[in-house]
Amino acid sequence: MTLQQAPYGTGAPASPALRPARVRTRTLQQHKERGEKFTMLTAYDALTASLFEDAGVDVLLVGDSAANNVLGETTTLPITVEDMLVFTRAVSRGSQRALIVADLPFGSYENSPAQAFSTAARFLKEGGAHAVKIEGGAHQAETVAHLTQSGIPVIAHIGFTPQSEHALGGYRVQGRDDAGARLLEDALALQAAGAFAVLIEMVPASVAAAVDEALAVPTIGIGAGPSTTGQVLVWQDALGLRTGRMPKFVKQFADLRSAMEQGVKDYVREVAEGSFPADEHSFDVA
Ligand code: KIV
Repeated sequence: MTLQQAPYGTGAPASPALRPARVRTRTLQQHKERGEKFTMLTAYDALTASLFEDAGVDVLLVGDSAANNVLGETTTLPITVEDMLVFTRAVSRGSQRALIVADLPFGSYENSPAQAFSTAARFLKEGGAHAVKIEGGAHQAETVAHLTQSGIPVIAHIGFTPQSEHALGGYRVQGRDDAGARLLEDALALQAAGAFAVLIEMVPASVAAAVDEALAVPTIGIGAGPSTTGQVLVWQDALGLRTGRMPKFVKQFADLRSAMEQGVKDYVREVAEGSFPADEHSFDVA
């Protein structure tokens, strides 16, 4: 379902009668119980949010990867709550169907469950998110319990957790050897604390499969093989806007960079040669 477009691209949402049913946390649980897959994709603005859910994406993640992919940072660490709220509001304005999950940025939840609640509540009240994601294993169980008991659905992110990139010694696969058993313990502790899903990043496929098998709640994988209940990718990676060295787990389903580059070259050329704007793009006096 496409938003009705006003002249400058903003648009009123469709009337309630036309609105598609919202994906809920229980919808994802039903996917797990029925053995069906679901998809999550990052989104940071209203137009891509609307496009992605129209194309069938179930969950939009306002990831703190916006730090890299929108703000040009080299890690996710510098992004702030205020930055993330701008992106979250934009995504929720553009979305009518998907479940919207916002990442709590580094430094905004680790001090205490109370700090996590104050931050997470802003994402629901001011950002329009339906759930939040936090990074970390069993040590975050108390925070997950506090958030979920306070009415905030939580996805727990384990495996490679980008906010701990420096502590983990760089961007590397987690859960190999003995660490696989610890990852499973983390996932079980987070599920027991109330997480409605566990996101697993960059771990061996067999470890992620064992976690999915052991959990009653859905798992969502990125670089975690095919056995997780859902899959997630960063959209600029998946659609080929970002190029260069890609992680092994990325598949580029489109080549947006080439398409956009060609479009911009055509625009520059047509302006230079005077063929744009043509008569059909110009106003008459009458
Ligand atoms: O911020 C993000 O995009 C993420 C994904 C890597 C899952 O957390």
